[in-house]
Amino acid sequence: MTKSSPLAYFPIPFLLLIVSLLLHGYPSFADSVYDNFLQCLTKHTKDQVSNIVLSQTNPSYKPALQAYIKNARFNTSSTPKPSIIVTPLHESHVQAAVICSKQVGTQIRIRSGGHDYEGISYVSDVPFIILDMFNLRNITVDIENQTAFVQAGATMGELYYKIWEKSNVHGFPAGVCPTLGAGGHLSGGGYGNMLRKYGLSVDHIIDAQIVDVNGKILDKASMGDDLFWAIRGGGGASFGVMLSYKINLVQVPKIVTVFKVQRSLEENATDVVYQWQQVAPNTDDRLFMRMLLQPGESKVKKGEKTIKASIVALFLGEATELVTILGKEFPQLGLKIENCTQMNWIESVLWWASFDNGTSPNALLSRNPNFVKFGKRKSDYVQTPISKDGLEWIWKKIIEVGDVGLVFNPYGGKMNEISASDTPFPHRKGNLFKVQYSVSWDDDGAEEEKRYIDQTKRLYSYMTPFVSKNPRSAFLNYRDLDIGVNHYGKDSYMEGKVYGYKYFKANFDRLVKVKTAVDPENFFRNEQSIPTLQTKASVFV
Ligand SMILES: Cc1cc2nc3c(=O)[nH]c(=O)nc-3n(C[C@H](O)[C@H](O)[C@H](O)COP(=O)(O)OP(=O)(O)OC[C@H]3O[C@@H](n4cnc5c(N)ncnc54)[C@H](O)[C@@H]3O)c2cc1C
Ligand SMILES: *[C@@H]1O[C@H](CO)[C@@H](O)[C@H](O)[C@H]1NC(C)=O
Ligand SMILES: *[C@@H]1O[C@H](CO)[C@@H](O)[C@H](O)[C@H]1NC(C)=O
Ligand SMILES: *[C@@H]1O[C@H](CO)[C@@H](O)[C@H](O)[C@H]1NC(C)=O
Ligand SMILES: *[C@@H]1O[C@H](CO)[C@@H](O)[C@H](O)[C@H]1NC(C)=O
Ligand SMILES: *[C@@H]1O[C@H](CO)[C@@H](O)[C@H](O)[C@H]1NC(C)=O
Ligand SMILES: *[C@@H]1O[C@H](CO)[C@@H](O)[C@H](O)[C@H]1NC(C)=O
Repeated sequence: MTKSSPLAYFPIPFLLLIVSLLLHGYPSFADSVYDNFLQCLTKHTKDQVSNIVLSQTNPSYKPALQAYIKNARFNTSSTPKPSIIVTPLHESHVQAAVICSKQVGTQIRIRSGGHDYEGISYVSDVPFIILDMFNLRNITVDIENQTAFVQAGATMGELYYKIWEKSNVHGFPAGVCPTLGAGGHLSGGGYGNMLRKYGLSVDHIIDAQIVDVNGKILDKASMGDDLFWAIRGGGGASFGVMLSYKINLVQVPKIVTVFKVQRSLEENATDVVYQWQQVAPNTDDRLFMRMLLQPGESKVKKGEKTIKASIVALFLGEATELVTILGKEFPQLGLKIENCTQMNWIESVLWWASFDNGTSPNALLSRNPNFVKFGKRKSDYVQTPISKDGLEWIWKKIIEVGDVGLVFNPYGGKMNEISASDTPFPHRKGNLFKVQYSVSWDDDGAEEEKRYIDQTKRLYSYMTPFVSKNPRSAFLNYRDLDIGVNHYGKDSYMEGKVYGYKYFKANFDRLVKVKTAVDPENFFRNEQSIPTLQTKASVFV
C-alpha cells in the first residue's frame, strides 16, 4: 500500500495561512477587531479616541495589560490575551465601548483593580477585549454629609487616603489590601477589619452609576430597586459596567489599637485556636481578630513540623480597654499592654498592609506593588466550633499537604443584624467565621502550578466535615473556578446554580431575575456570571 503525504491533501495557500497563524497567532482577527472597534468608537464619541484603544502592536499594550495583573499565574506567554485594551478617560467612552464591543461581536472583560483571584477580569478562553477602568479614579469626600463619591478605577488605598486628608475620625469598611479596585471589590461584597462593627462595604453603598447593555448610564433612581440590590454583592460584571459609587463613611475613634501574637503547637496553639472560635465571633463588635494558620518548622523539636497560629487584630478603642476585655474573655491568649500598639486609623491601615512603622500615608496612593506572586485561593464558612480533636486532625492535614495556609476571619457583630436577603451576599447570621485557603509561590511552570493547586483541593476536601453544607458556601470576592463554571448552553441556569447557590444561596434566583430583565441576551458574561432564565443556546462562541 502506498502512502501519499498528508500534505498533498491541502492547497498551498491554505498551508501558508496555517503557517502564518502558527507563527503570528491570529493577527488578522485582532487587527479587524481593532479597525472595526476604533471606527465604531469614533462614531459614538466626540473625542479623539485612538489613544484609548490599544492594539496588540501598540507599545503601550503590554505594559497596560501587565499593570493590573495581580496574580503571576495569568502573566504567562500561554495566557490568552485580549485583542485590544480600551482605557476610557470619560464616562462617555465606557458607553461607546459597550455599544461597540456588541457591534463588533466580541466579549468584554471589565477590569478595575485586577485582583480577581482567577484573573477573569483580564483573561478569557474566547476572543475578548479588556475595558480597563484605571483612568476613572476620581474620589470626592464630603465630611459634612459623611459620604464619598468613588469611581470604579479608584483603589481602596486612595479612598482611605482621601478620607484621612479630611478627617481623622472617619473611615470606610473595605478590604485590607490598598490596591483593591472599587469596581470589583465594592460590587462583590467587600470586607475588611471593621466587618464586625460595620458589616460589608456593600452595606454602605447609597447610590451607584452603571452603564447598561444599551450603553445608558443609570443611577439608583433610574436603575430601580432590583438592579441596585443586585450590584451590591452580586458582582457588577453580570449586569453592566460600574462607573462609580456613592458611599456612607463610618466613624472611627481617634485612637485605635492593633496587635499581632503568634503561638506554635508547642505553645498551646490548639487551645488558643479552640478558644478563639468562642471569643472572636462573639466579643465586642469593635474587635476584629483574624487568625492565620500556617505550617512551619518547630523550634522546639528539631526537624519536626508545627503549626503557627497568628492573631492579627484591630480594636476600635484604646489598649487598656482591649487588654481588660481579652483578659476576661480570652485568658489563654495572655495579651498584655506591651503586646498592643496604639495609633490612629490611617496608621492602622498601613500597619495591616504590612508597611514599615512610620511609613507616610502617601504609600497608599502607590499603584505598583512589589513583586507579584503566583497564587490560588478558596473559601469556606464554619458554623459550629471545631473540637480540639478536630483541630488536631486539621493540623496533621495542613502539615501533610505542605504549603497551604488557612485564614479564619471572624463574623458576628453587625453581620448578625443584617438579613441574608438584604443584599445578594447571604452569609450573615449563623456563620462563626470564613475560611480562606491560601497558597502563593514564586516559580513559573505547569508542574509547580498543578502541585500547589492540587494541595488546595486536598485541604479543601479534608475540611468538608467542619464547614457549611448544602450548599457548601463560598465568598464571591474569593473567586474560585473549581466550584463550578458556566458554558451558557441550554443548561446555563443549572450550571449557574452550582456556583450561584454557593456564593448567593437563595438570592441566586433573584439575581437571575434581575439579570434576565436587564441583560436578556447575556452580553455581560464570564465563567461565573449570573445566567439568564432563557439563554439562547448559541451565545458562548
Ligand atoms: C491581594 C488581595 C487582597 C484581597 N483582600 C481582600 C479583602 O481584604 N477583602 C475582600 O473582600 N476581598 C479581598 N480580595 C478579593 C477582592 O475583593 C476581589 O478580587 C475583588 O473583585 C477585586 O476587585 P478589583 O476591581 O481589584 O478586581 P478586578 O479583577 O478588576 O475585578 C474583579 C471582578 O469584578 C469585575 N469588575 C471589575 N470592575 C468592574 C466594573 N467597573 N464594573 C463591573 N464589573 C467589574 C471584573 O470583571 C471581575 O469579574 C483580595 C484580593 C487580592 C488579590
Ligand atoms: C509579568 O511578566 C513580566 C515579564 O514578562 C514582568 O516584567 C512583570 O513583572 C510580570 N507581572 C506580574 C504581575 O507578574
Ligand atoms: C475627575 O475630576 C476632575 C477634577 O475635578 C475633573 O476635571 C474630571 O472631569 C473628573 N473626571 C471624571 C471622569 O469625572
Ligand atoms: C451635603 O448634602 C447636601 C444635600 O445633598 C448638599 O446640599 C450639600 O452641598 C452637601 N455638603 C457638601 C459639603 O457638599
Ligand atoms: C507579649 O509581650 C511580652 C513582652 O514583650 C512577650 O514576652 C509575650 O510573648 C507577648 N505575648 C504574646 C501573646 O505574644
Ligand atoms: C501551655 O499550657 C500549659 C498548661 O496549661 C501552661 O503551663 C503553659 O504555660 C502554656 N504555655 C504557654 C506558652 O502559654
Ligand atoms: C514606631 O516608631 C515610633 C517612633 O520611632 C515609636 O515611638 C513607636 O513605638 C513605633 N511603633 C511601633 C508599632 O513599632
